[in-house]
Amino acid sequence: NMRRKLVAGNWKMNGSLAANAALLAEIKAGMAAVAVCDVALCAPAPYFAQCQAELAGSAIALGGQDVSAHAAGAYTGEIAVSMLQDFACRYVIVGHSERRAYHAETDELVAQKALRALQAGVTPIVCVGETLGEREAGQTDTVVGRQLQAVLNVLEAGQVSEIVVAYEPVWAIGTGKTATPQMAQDVHMALRAKLAEKNSAAAVEVRILYGGSMKPENAVELLAMPDIDGGLIGGAALKAADFLAIVAAA
Ligand code: G3H
Repeated sequence: NMRRKLVAGNWKMNGSLAANAALLAEIKAGMAAVAVCDVALCAPAPYFAQCQAELAGSAIALGGQDVSAHAAGAYTGEIAVSMLQDFACRYVIVGHSERRAYHAETDELVAQKALRALQAGVTPIVCVGETLGEREAGQTDTVVGRQLQAVLNVLEAGQVSEIVVAYEPVWAIGTGKTATPQMAQDVHMALRAKLAEKNSAAAVEVRILYGGSMKPENAVELLAMPDIDGGLIGGAALKAADFLAIVAAA
């Protein structure tokens, strides 16, 4: 397996200057002992400056949680990829299920966001995942395949290797329910096959992260699966000890 694992924390809409300072200090202090994989933290944009300063000189990369599909202009409240770059963000999450569900983001919009990030040299972490109803209806592969295909449709074949994919079953996010390692592996394998249709050499290189109630107790088993190349960590990323334990498992 040539893929270096990536563990990315997604703080979502959590934190404060004080809480972040404590969390970052603890994570930095613990990292040296465990860092054998790539590590990133996706912070709320108002804290980019704080995170950039705190993470300077560390092996931890900074990421955003969303990016505009537009370059600049009259888009109130949106964040341009150039702004992410001003704070040295290396990654940005696009198409998180919370954005899809609460902000009506379509597959096509998510694809435009991924392309915008990629063209600027910021790695998009493209999230896909089915709802419980879709899983129970046997539509998992169809749904995640459609979500990934929309992104592949706007990429050149040569760009496929530059994305990260995150499989996040919606029913497992923040619920304490985790996909079993085999359930996740099956979807990751299907996603890699979809990537291979566009570029078979690149498909082998693309990291596919699992997200959805990943925690120290289940990380080892999940990360041992052949097509699970890391994790996108929500709740457990807000506790330094848990986040470090997941990094250590990768
Ligand atoms: O982006 C992270 C995922 O939504 C997972 O969140 O670990 O709190 O379930 P969670």
